[in-house]
Amino acid sequence: MDHFLYRDGELYAEEVPVADIAAAVGTPFYLYSTATLTRHFRLFDEALAGTNHLVCYAVKAASNQAILKTLAQLGAGMDVVSGGEYARAKAAGVPGERIVFSGVGKTRAEMRMALEGGIRQFNVESEPEMAALSDVASEMGRVAPISVRVNPDVDAMTHAKIATGKAENKFGIPISRARQVYAQAAALPGLDVVGIDVHIGSQLTDLEPFRLAYDKVAELTEALRADGHDIRRLDLGGGLGIPYTRSNEAPPLPTEYGALIKETVGHLGCEIEIEPGRLVAGNAGILVSSVIYVKSGEGRDFLILDAAMNDLIRPAMYEAHHDIVPVTEPAAAAERVPYDVVGPVCETGDTFAKSRQLPRLAAGDLVAFRSAGAYGAVMASEYNTRPLTPEVLVDEHQFAVIRARPAFDEIINRDTIPPWL
Ligand code: LLP
Repeated sequence: MDHFLYRDGELYAEEVPVADIAAAVGTPFYLYSTATLTRHFRLFDEALAGTNHLVCYAVKAASNQAILKTLAQLGAGMDVVSGGEYARAKAAGVPGERIVFSGVGKTRAEMRMALEGGIRQFNVESEPEMAALSDVASEMGRVAPISVRVNPDVDAMTHAKIATGKAENKFGIPISRARQVYAQAAALPGLDVVGIDVHIGSQLTDLEPFRLAYDKVAELTEALRADGHDIRRLDLGGGLGIPYTRSNEAPPLPTEYGALIKETVGHLGCEIEIEPGRLVAGNAGILVSSVIYVKSGEGRDFLILDAAMNDLIRPAMYEAHHDIVPVTEPAAAAERVPYDVVGPVCETGDTFAKSRQLPRLAAGDLVAFRSAGAYGAVMASEYNTRPLTPEVLVDEHQFAVIRARPAFDEIINRDTIPPWL
């Protein structure tokens, strides 16, 4: 169920009018729904019911402490890809044994940090990383649990910038070399090989690539077991896509995804981990913005918003589509006109949409970008010295600012002047 709905002509977030929050917080800001986050996490948890599993939320999708805490309280594990994300997960109360550490370039400092604080497993992605991790663990008198991320050479059929499972991508070790690499891992004193990891990409709208990858993982599990490895855990990554438009887009549901997992790897008796990010957070968040000006151009009208590419970079970076809706519900019969929707940043790439059909809008009107909860706030920057976008969380009738808008002084005072100036 969608928790950002019109009621009495106004957009609500759960039980709170979005315009009330805008009046209190100012625009632009990200706004998340606790009910949606909760529901989406549970969909995955329930889809894997009957298997020994852990849903490890991909922290990179939306990493605010309040979001992590909401999910941690539901029993979520976390998938982190940096020391910073590891620290965030710990600070939100996630125990180390529920945190998996992914990423192609973990540093020794990050490895040490996770071994000290506790870790479920490292998903290692190369031989040199295995050697470094074994060294670090041995120095600490520890043994690091690992899964090796394999690259199954499967086309995820998604945007090229977020496909990770093809041989040409930097991720994982080629599955063809997996048996050798596992033999090397088993021989390293600081490592305990517990499983296999795979993640083929993000925003997958078809289950077939998952099936191809998971079949390969199942085959590899049996081969590695035959080689004497105790493969007891499979990390199947994230990647399930979400609908970004409200038309006929219908990506597979978590239940169908769960059924596919059981079908492809269920017989192996392994503990299952999955790492969803986008599906948990994406449609649990919107970006609320105000119209600054409507400007008439040559053969087009520009809707100039107070949100920009620094707040939401997905359209500029991936040609991504986000539905844009007025916060005041337009009359059903209201005329629609095409707008080029842009932000105030000084480059042409700061364009959210071209010729987007919207009801007529005027300066001061509020609009919301839908499906902005994942890879929105986390990818925001202060380009053009625009303050980092604030975040707000709603839970039924209450809302709270969960990241405040920094004052200009806070931004500027992060710089330091060298003594010779
Ligand atoms: N696990 C690993 C190892 C990943 O690299 C990712 C995402 C996930 C899990 C979560 O995938 P999800 O369920 O969210 O699809 N910034 C891009 C998306 C980058 C995804 C990176 N990896 C975007 O805005 O579309």
